[in-house]
Amino acid sequence: MDYATIDQHVAGFVGLDDPAAPAAARADAAGLPAIAVSPLQGMFLHLLARTMGARRILELGTLGGYSTIWLAQAVPADGEVVTIELDPRHAEVARESFAEAGLDGVIDLRVGAALEILEGVDGPFDLAFLDADKATMPQQVELVIPRVRSGGVIICDNVIRGGAVVDSDDASPAGARGALEVLAADPRVDATVLQTVGLKGHDGFAYALVR
Ligand code: SAH
Ligand code: DHB
Ligand code: MG
Repeated sequence: MDYATIDQHVAGFVGLDDPAAPAAARADAAGLPAIAVSPLQGMFLHLLARTMGARRILELGTLGGYSTIWLAQAVPADGEVVTIELDPRHAEVARESFAEAGLDGVIDLRVGAALEILEGVDGPFDLAFLDADKATMPQQVELVIPRVRSGGVIICDNVIRGGAVVDSDDASPAGARGALEVLAADPRVDATVLQTVGLKGHDGFAYALVR
């Protein structure tokens, strides 16, 4: 059986109730690329945030706000998700979904390139989810580490890309490989990688704990 079919079935078995489904529908209707995390991955990020008691979350790469809404549902009413998106059209679609979900008081959406916006974003964050462009992911990791508290977690999406991370010289997998090398070399974090299969094919999350 293929990964996508299995993903859909197990989502049913765990009774997944998707608070971000309207955002996915709006993003789809607006013609945004279908590259958001899967529902099961959204729930994983949500449960991780709740497990940590996260109050402040940083996200790079908003797209239509699908993962953002999963994360925002995990923080308390006085918590915050700062999410950074380069494409103003993506940001506009996301903003509509945040308002519809009643989450515009919790989500702080900044429009611009992650590396530039991050300079003006102060930590400490409990959790960071890196899902913007992969080519500059090594530099993103460098900027994010000092903004995450000790005991906080950094997750990087798309670090496997069907195995391309191992030897491809294309900008995205090479960037993901560079990000893993930064995480490995930096004494401020301990990191691992979880390979994933499902609706999004074969990929993976890097998971780094800040010392
Ligand atoms: N996290 C989203 C998916 C993000 S897709 C979800 O799971 O629902 C990647 C997004 O990163 C796209 O919207 C793209 O426009 C944005 N992006 C690309 N380069 C970027 C950059 N340098 N800074 C911020 N966002 C960027
Ligand atoms: C792409 C980007 C993503 O963040 C993702 O999860 C899957 C695909 C892409 O740019 O193709
Ligand atoms: Mg991604």
